[in-house]
Amino acid sequence: MSVGIERLAVYVPAYALKLEDLAAARGVAPEKYRDGLGLGEMALVPPCEDVVTLAATAGARLIGAAHLDPAQIGMLLVATETPVDHAKPVASFVHGLLGLSSHCRVWDLTHACYAGTAALMTAADWVRAGGHRVRRALVIAADIARYPLGSPGEPTQGAGAVAMLVDAEPQALILSEDTGVHARHVHDFWRPLGRREALVDGQYSIACYLDALTGAFTAFRALERPPFEPGEAFTDRVAHLLYHSPFPKMAAKAHRRLVEIDWRAAPGRVVEDLDTAAAASFRELVAPGLEAIARVGNCYTASLYFCLAALLEAQGRRLGGRRLGLFSYGSGSCAEFFSGLVPASVAAVSDAGVAASLARRTYVDVAAYERLARAPETGGDPPPGFAGAFIFEGVRGEQRRYARVGI
Ligand code: COA
Repeated sequence: MSVGIERLAVYVPAYALKLEDLAAARGVAPEKYRDGLGLGEMALVPPCEDVVTLAATAGARLIGAAHLDPAQIGMLLVATETPVDHAKPVASFVHGLLGLSSHCRVWDLTHACYAGTAALMTAADWVRAGGHRVRRALVIAADIARYPLGSPGEPTQGAGAVAMLVDAEPQALILSEDTGVHARHVHDFWRPLGRREALVDGQYSIACYLDALTGAFTAFRALERPPFEPGEAFTDRVAHLLYHSPFPKMAAKAHRRLVEIDWRAAPGRVVEDLDTAAAASFRELVAPGLEAIARVGNCYTASLYFCLAALLEAQGRRLGGRRLGLFSYGSGSCAEFFSGLVPASVAAVSDAGVAASLARRTYVDVAAYERLARAPETGGDPPPGFAGAFIFEGVRGEQRRYARVGI
């Protein structure tokens, strides 16, 4: 039984800020953001958007693109670390906005940037457990990354949502059943209750990410079948590798670590200059999956799946029949390395709306960005040219109110 992602749909919010403008305002060399972090722009939410509208719009786009009867969805999982209520899950709002069946399991998952993968694996296991019963799950990863103004994390903010239809008819990615996981209790990134911006020990979080990659990839590699030929590495078996990308340079650091582990474990593989060879491998295997995320910034648990959607959209036809490696990391921490096979039929589903979403944004200046960052979440009217399907109208009687405005 092949289980995986039938198709994906993305949504990015209506506003964006160019990081060269932020660099100028902060007195930082623009090369630090562009080359040092690999970032060009960050996505921002206008007052009428929040994590519910991001998730619901991605979900509505997916249901529309797949011509799906919402009654066929038996499980809705929303992965997010940007909840809007202590008790009522984001998934509950999304379930109502999308008009899903009452015969549907509905809940949120939170584990920093890992939750999207936890949701995907949970949904895939549920589909497999159904045997010959037809089961379809809607998995949505959605987040808004916020750090304090002027902090080191500020240029790595962003926002976005990715919806995935998980079932036994995967046309985008067939998931491998063997995965490698690694969990460790660390305080690298967290957001105490009541705070809107995250706290992070940035350099420590990079070290924790790389340690988790080492643990998860080593566990995954040990399960790899068929056994490796002399001199053969895992990187020889994949068309591309996708890493959780809080900023694209993180993926370069990750790939350098993976290559070192992988190639050293390949008896007989001769590499004279590891840094040069790893850089060439990065350009071939990793860089093509990072172009779009450099224009969105960190969308936390949606980041890895945004990279997947963008890669399939840009190169889907070429990837039919090829294998991808994926690494998910969530601070705190939990990580998972897994792989997937891109089906030959991928071209039919490869348009996830990445290019279209990026093309419809409005660029704001630093003053407008700072006003947005300081403003309380009140909801509001959609700005001109708004492409989202839903808006956050505001809070009435201590209840958040939403309205459908598009699709
Ligand atoms: N031109 C080119 N590159 C430059 C530069 C310039 N003028 N100035 C600095 N850089 C490079 C640095 O060398 C560094 O690259 P390296 O890591 O390859 O050495 C990079 O830009 C970042 O500089 P650094 O001084 O390390 O940045 P920082 O301490 O201000 O913050 C983060 C970087 C990532 C720690 C910070 O943005 C952060 O905390 N982000 C949120 C947490 C996060 O995303 N963690 C990731 C794991 S989950």
